[in-house]
Amino acid sequence: MASSDVSAGTSDAGRMVLIGAACAAAGAAAGVAIARAWARRSHGKGAGAKPAWYREQRTSGMSDALHEYCVKVGTRLTPQHLKISDYTNKLGGISRMCVSADEGQFLETMAKIVSARNVVEVGCFTGYGTLSLALGTKERVYTLDIADDHLAQARAQWDAAGVGERVEHVKGPAVRSMRLIRALGFSKDAAAAVRAGMDGGAVAGAAGEGQAQLVFVDADKASYAAYVEHAFHLLERGGLCVVDNTIWSGRVIAAEFADADTTAIRKLNEDLKDDTRWDICLLPLADGVTVLRKR
Ligand SMILES: C[S@@+](CC[C@H](N)C(=O)[O-])C[C@H]1O[C@@H](n2cnc3c(N)ncnc32)[C@H](O)[C@@H]1O
Repeated sequence: MASSDVSAGTSDAGRMVLIGAACAAAGAAAGVAIARAWARRSHGKGAGAKPAWYREQRTSGMSDALHEYCVKVGTRLTPQHLKISDYTNKLGGISRMCVSADEGQFLETMAKIVSARNVVEVGCFTGYGTLSLALGTKERVYTLDIADDHLAQARAQWDAAGVGERVEHVKGPAVRSMRLIRALGFSKDAAAAVRAGMDGGAVAGAAGEGQAQLVFVDADKASYAAYVEHAFHLLERGGLCVVDNTIWSGRVIAAEFADADTTAIRKLNEDLKDDTRWDICLLPLADGVTVLRKR
């Protein structure tokens, strides 16, 4: 991938500086052991040699106590965040699907950095990320999910937080919903048509193309490449596609994992590395978050 095009325009450059600061705050360096191994392999100058980007710090391997500290001083959780968290934790094992407090704060901040008017979230679950995104967005958040089991409690919290009016939940396969949004756009009328599930194949038009400032991808891994491609068309230049789970609990570098999800994430990471349509930054935040900026 070519280097970041920060000279493209002052507002874009300013945004990238802010994003860079957020990245640094989130701890944008690989784990110490991996970095050392990488330095030895890539530079061949012995154990002491380190690549220019290397800074020794703890990130995704941080202790619970440090994570707690980061959340305590680095997030501004609303009562509604806490209620959605509480509801989610009571669901048992599947609660792991919910974004973490620091990642939620990250999403809200990213939406504010790009002055988001229109946002698409792929994968709603219990609506925690949706709440964070909506708090950072001025007009509309589409949140797409194949299910709506948790929608009533999510809607209650979005309304209590004063963002419910701006959130459109669309039930169905997200590839189809994204196709509809590309065709129909972000207006209130368009949202009603998208929710009604008009036939994606039959809808002509491109009212939604170039109209979004942020897309958050957080659903089935096999479809990630398709989601990122739709995101590219939905976003305006300078807009962000934030892709979750790109470290996938470390399975991306563990050869014994050859399952479909791991393979899909590995391939996406490799493909994005060379996709010069985007600026790229993979953060070891939560389960790995890749921030793509449309050039
Ligand atoms: C990791 S969770 C999303 C978490 C959420 N973003 C949050 O803030 O907590 C993934 C969600 O993707 C949904 N999903 C899985 N396959 C899907 C598909 N093909 N289309 C749309 N949603 C899908 C699941 O129902 C699940 O709610």
